[in-house]
Amino acid sequence: MRLKLAIIGCGRISAVYKEAFKDLADDVSVVCAIDKIKSRAVDFASAFPGCQAGDSLEDIYAYEPDVLHICLPHYLHSSVAIDAMKRGINILVEKPVAMNCTEADEMIATRDEMNVLASCIFQTRYIEAVSQIRKAIKSGELGDIIGVKSSLAWTRPADYYEGSDWKGTWSGEGGGVLIDQAIHSIDRVRYILDKEIKSVEGSISNFAHDYLDVEDTSTALVEFDGGIIYNIYATNAYVVNDPITIDFIGTKGRAGLIQDFGYIEENGKRREIRESYEGKVVGENYWGSSHNVQIKLFYEAVRAKKSGEKIEDIGVSLEDAKKTLELVRAIYKSAREGEKIDFPYAE
Ligand SMILES: NC(=O)c1ccc[n+]([C@@H]2O[C@H](COP(=O)([O-])OP(=O)(O)OC[C@H]3O[C@@H](n4cnc5c(N)ncnc54)[C@H](O)[C@@H]3O)[C@@H](O)[C@H]2O)c1
Repeated sequence: MRLKLAIIGCGRISAVYKEAFKDLADDVSVVCAIDKIKSRAVDFASAFPGCQAGDSLEDIYAYEPDVLHICLPHYLHSSVAIDAMKRGINILVEKPVAMNCTEADEMIATRDEMNVLASCIFQTRYIEAVSQIRKAIKSGELGDIIGVKSSLAWTRPADYYEGSDWKGTWSGEGGGVLIDQAIHSIDRVRYILDKEIKSVEGSISNFAHDYLDVEDTSTALVEFDGGIIYNIYATNAYVVNDPITIDFIGTKGRAGLIQDFGYIEENGKRREIRESYEGKVVGENYWGSSHNVQIKLFYEAVRAKKSGEKIEDIGVSLEDAKKTLELVRAIYKSAREGEKIDFPYAE
């Protein structure tokens, strides 16, 4: 079944969507591209025959898309998603699902009220190494997991923020390195462990970006159910974009990720997992190439719903994406109040 797609926000990340839509061209029609800077929408639309360009959300409604991709600044995610869902449109929103958990709850309520499908992009879950490490941990191959650590050391120089009216601001982005970059590592740790969080204590600092309000560095100590300790280190104040590392320590072995490369060690045996990229790497290489995988999964769910079949998997549900956001928000709260935050987290 051919799906009609629309996209709102034709900025940096839209290059990845352009490539994904081209790859899926046999099964989808891109009907409308929107950006408040209309030339960006026109440029995006020009890649797809018959695709119209517009500069406001209302412009999509005449085309009755099955799916709206939301690639906007964070502060617009929830309002645009809610507006579109109220028109019966299924939405796939870029991470983070919203700026805070209250907004995420409003999105969940609208989804339920309107009986539409909604999901949030966390494409870095969809690599082979993540899937194999998750399986190894679930099967008990590594024994009990006792500790996890994730480390992100990237560079975001001044020109990354220049010309953006929302990046690097609390009101537009909702924070800095944690909510924008490290959120993928945090999400993967949550997804791989598949455990609830008990508490978190964290700190934020701004060492190298005195022209921004938000943090460029954060550390946190999270406790998951079962006493698993998770140490987070994230900084945008490094000199290059170093590969992200994530390590899981078990009583019988260990596993980890170095960017998309994975390893699992158990009883002195080590196996390595290299990604066989399904999509091309487009744009920044640290975005990875698995948007395609998650987007396709969502389209299958939309097709199943339209034809009255059982929906197998929509990808990342809003509730799941909200749990990752909760951890980010709890670290901000802990840093602000100087205290450990117990879960369940409330805004
Ligand atoms: N998954 C990933 O790895 C990844 C990577 C980069 C960005 N992102 C996410 O993608 C989203 C967009 O990020 P970006 O880097 O492309 O930002 P960007 O600033 O480059 O692009 C945002 C676009 O939205 C447009 N816009 C702003 N307000 C609008 C409005 N009211 N109506 C229509 N258009 C409007 C802007 O003109 C701009 O072209 C964010 O949620 C970001 O976190 C995800």
